[in-house]
Amino acid sequence: MTAVLTDEKIPNNVNLGGDKRLQRALEAWQPHFIDWWKAMGPLGWQERDIYLRTAVSVETDGWAHFDYVKMPDYRWGIFLEPKQDGRTHGFGDHYGQPVWDEVPGEFRNLLRRLIVTQGDTEPASVEQQRNLGATAPSLYDLRNLFQVNVEEGRHLWAMVYLLHTYFGRDGREEAEELLARRSGDADKPRILGAFNEPTSHWLSFFMFTMFTDRDGKYQLSALAESGFDPLARTCRFMLTEEAHHMFVGETGVQRVVKRACELTKQDGSGDPRKLGGIDLPTIQKYLNLWYSLSLDLFGGEVSSNAADAFAAGIKGRYKEDRYDEHKLVGSHVAMDVLDGGKIVHKDIPMRNALNEVLRTEYIKDCQRGVDRWNKTIKDEGVDFELRLPSNKFHRQIGMWAGLGVTPGGEQLTVSSFVARRGEWLPNDADERYIKSLMQPVYEPGKMASWIAPPAKGINGLPNEFVYVRL
Ligand SMILES: [Fe+2]
Ligand SMILES: [Fe+2]
Repeated sequence: MTAVLTDEKIPNNVNLGGDKRLQRALEAWQPHFIDWWKAMGPLGWQERDIYLRTAVSVETDGWAHFDYVKMPDYRWGIFLEPKQDGRTHGFGDHYGQPVWDEVPGEFRNLLRRLIVTQGDTEPASVEQQRNLGATAPSLYDLRNLFQVNVEEGRHLWAMVYLLHTYFGRDGREEAEELLARRSGDADKPRILGAFNEPTSHWLSFFMFTMFTDRDGKYQLSALAESGFDPLARTCRFMLTEEAHHMFVGETGVQRVVKRACELTKQDGSGDPRKLGGIDLPTIQKYLNLWYSLSLDLFGGEVSSNAADAFAAGIKGRYKEDRYDEHKLVGSHVAMDVLDGGKIVHKDIPMRNALNEVLRTEYIKDCQRGVDRWNKTIKDEGVDFELRLPSNKFHRQIGMWAGLGVTPGGEQLTVSSFVARRGEWLPNDADERYIKSLMQPVYEPGKMASWIAPPAKGINGLPNEFVYVRL
């Protein structure tokens, strides 16, 4: 494989120096990225030393280097998994044929759209999270926030590399646009809905990294199967970093849940809010919110775009090689669909159902996380169970959008749903309460009242380690 060149302006393992035109183009984009980072990245922390992990290769052992770094000096690099000789299309109409190293003309627009949509989510989440540093519950969490942020920045680099390398002038223009859109902006919003929602406090941050970053895992996994080989190799390495983001989310929520249980037992009336904690029913509401927003990211239940991308060999299924059949011509799957306002079970051509197939894998993965949270609650001896709501609850994209389905799956009239919405989703009072708890704790090893300490520190270091130098 190509050696990693970390002393270049842009660290990379793609022999960037061997393509001077591309190198110059990316070096011209780099200061625009840094300007964006300084304007829209973590507010108020740019000059601090943060103990961060930096990708320096794609070797499974030792791909990361840990040290203090000021975020604007972070070494954002371009890393692709090594090319596998003789790799062939693993699915779709070109199944068994050699994969592509260049973009086939007929699929250029489709590929560009997928890459831009994925790329847009990366800076969007950094923008959504930019104010959180002011209210971190501990230095450990503060560092994890910044770790996630710089890696989302690197994921943007990964997509911009593809745009610059394979899409000519269009690609360069798209790369500029990726720095011009702004999360939540009325005129220039980010492309996908969940990436325009504010992540205004740490409970939402943990839910976001649990549920929304996990959508990222499934999208990247489907693109990691791609017959456009550079995309597959890029996404494979991104998944390595993504695992940590979901770890931050799952263990973050788990620690809030644990603290909720401890305080429920401590307070005579069983109300953790009296002791500065977050109660389990409120945690459930934020779970409902971020899970349903994240389900939307998979797109429509029945989708010709999904069918086209699969047929073209561009976007596959999660772990395609677990399946026996990879062309899916003439095969069907039974799923819930809306027919004359009623929910019915019906056979749908498999290729058109692939968004739903991917979403179903995602739901199973989310359930495993929720099971672990419930184990924490049980171990604490508290009688409560967290649940994933119905996949038809609070949807804004696809067949179930605006239907008025309860978390339990019951279909209400839209007006009765709206009247009861605050029972299931965070209401203004919940949001005010959670925000009132968000007071920064910057003393090494100390935690805010509403969260339990982590089981262990980062990179084998103790919880008391100074993860961020103030
Ligand atoms: Fe990412
Ligand atoms: Fe992520």
